[in-house]
Amino acid sequence: MSNQSNPSVLIFDSGVGGLSVYQEVKLLLPQVNCTYLFDNEAYPYGELSQEVLIHRVDMLISNYLAENPIDAVVIACNTASTIVLPTLRKKHTIPVIGVVPAIKPASTIANKAVGLIATPATITREYTKDLVRSFSSDTHVEMLGSTQLVEMAEAKLRGREVCIEVLAQILKPLIGNIDVAVLGCTHFPLIKEEIAQVLGNKVTLIDSGEAIARRVQSLLKLEPGNVYKERQAIWSSARPSDESALNYVLKELGFSPVQCLRFPGV
Ligand code: DGL
Repeated sequence: MSNQSNPSVLIFDSGVGGLSVYQEVKLLLPQVNCTYLFDNEAYPYGELSQEVLIHRVDMLISNYLAENPIDAVVIACNTASTIVLPTLRKKHTIPVIGVVPAIKPASTIANKAVGLIATPATITREYTKDLVRSFSSDTHVEMLGSTQLVEMAEAKLRGREVCIEVLAQILKPLIGNIDVAVLGCTHFPLIKEEIAQVLGNKVTLIDSGEAIARRVQSLLKLEPGNVYKERQAIWSSARPSDESALNYVLKELGFSPVQCLRFPGV
């Protein structure tokens, strides 16, 4: 382990969505030194081919791990996790934790139907269809894939308001038809209040963030410890949009300003 009292965890996503998972990890394990890496050059992942996506995630994670002591990797992206985990786990000996849609807990509590809100890619993945077949055979799962919602979350994190009318238009197929909604994209907990406002208080929203934090805890065998006080690093594969607004929020979350990666091929 890199440092017994402050283990290092690399959290990865296409954009800022993985920060929702980061927040859960820090809530449970404040002693962890989290490095955040995001592939904004290839964002949005929900619109990429599987081959390109696997290649990008493999290249970025493997290059980073080759140069830095890391104890565990969290692929804080449903779109990537539903296809890249076998490749990464074959190559690396440290734990690689993925985030996949929380269909199982959702269907346990649903009386009516489950809504899966994810990226256009996640709702078509075999992995997702298997989750539904295995854990929700008795409860209908209505799938809704949207990149516009991902963009709304990116904008909100940079201080821009979510337009409730536009959100209601996107979520229209689910309104009144479900009692549990799975936030199957790590960007969506960032606009959870707005989604709740549109779907109404009879709909329970579920995401995977807390479960991932518990998985990190169990795989690294950690007890809650003292807060890691240093500023943590955040890396992007291209210059981020609206960088100063982004850095302002990142500072609040405990990061130093975004740095751009200099790997060959990126
Ligand atoms: N945050 C990602 C997810 O959980 C993907 C967003 C995107 O780049 O399309 O699926």
